[in-house]
Amino acid sequence: MRNPFCLVVLLLCALSLSACLSEPTLKPEEIGDVERGRELFETSGEILVTECAHCHSLDGSIFREISPAPSLQGIAQRAGQRVEGLGVVEYIRQSITDQTFYVVDGFKDSMGTYKYKLSEEDVNNLIAFLLTQQE
Ligand code: HEC
Repeated sequence: MRNPFCLVVLLLCALSLSACLSEPTLKPEEIGDVERGRELFETSGEILVTECAHCHSLDGSIFREISPAPSLQGIAQRAGQRVEGLGVVEYIRQSITDQTFYVVDGFKDSMGTYKYKLSEEDVNNLIAFLLTQQE
């Protein structure tokens, strides 16, 4: 007997199984405040540091005339594959706080560290914002 209900149940089982097999992913809101992160990225807020958008675009373009930096378009998907054993959140955190641990191919480590310039909370807010940058 062909029962469309069985098909739906099977499909749901397959879907939930694949969800379980993939890496657990944190939602941006679980890491920090996305809007605050966006503000820091674009304008650096009231903190006197170079804003990230000074060097990084979010649309795939590279500002060659300033200090060439990789576009952060789709970084949420790329970040987990950069360094073995380092997940998306930890990779982005390291990128912000220690520019020497991994240097993206074709670029120089000209970013400098933001370790002492940003509070831990604001680093988390930036990570939350960058997690929204899917391809
Ligand atoms: C002076 C220019 C400059 C500024 C300002 C800057 N960066 Fe960078 N950033 C770079 C360069 C160059 C690289 C590539 C070299 C490297 O990996 O260190 C990079 C790499 C990164 C990466 C890794 C990208 C990848 O594809 O793996 C992340 C994430 C990042 N920056 C986030 C930030 C954030 C967040 C800020 C603001 C707090 C910021 N950057 C400010 C120049 C900059």
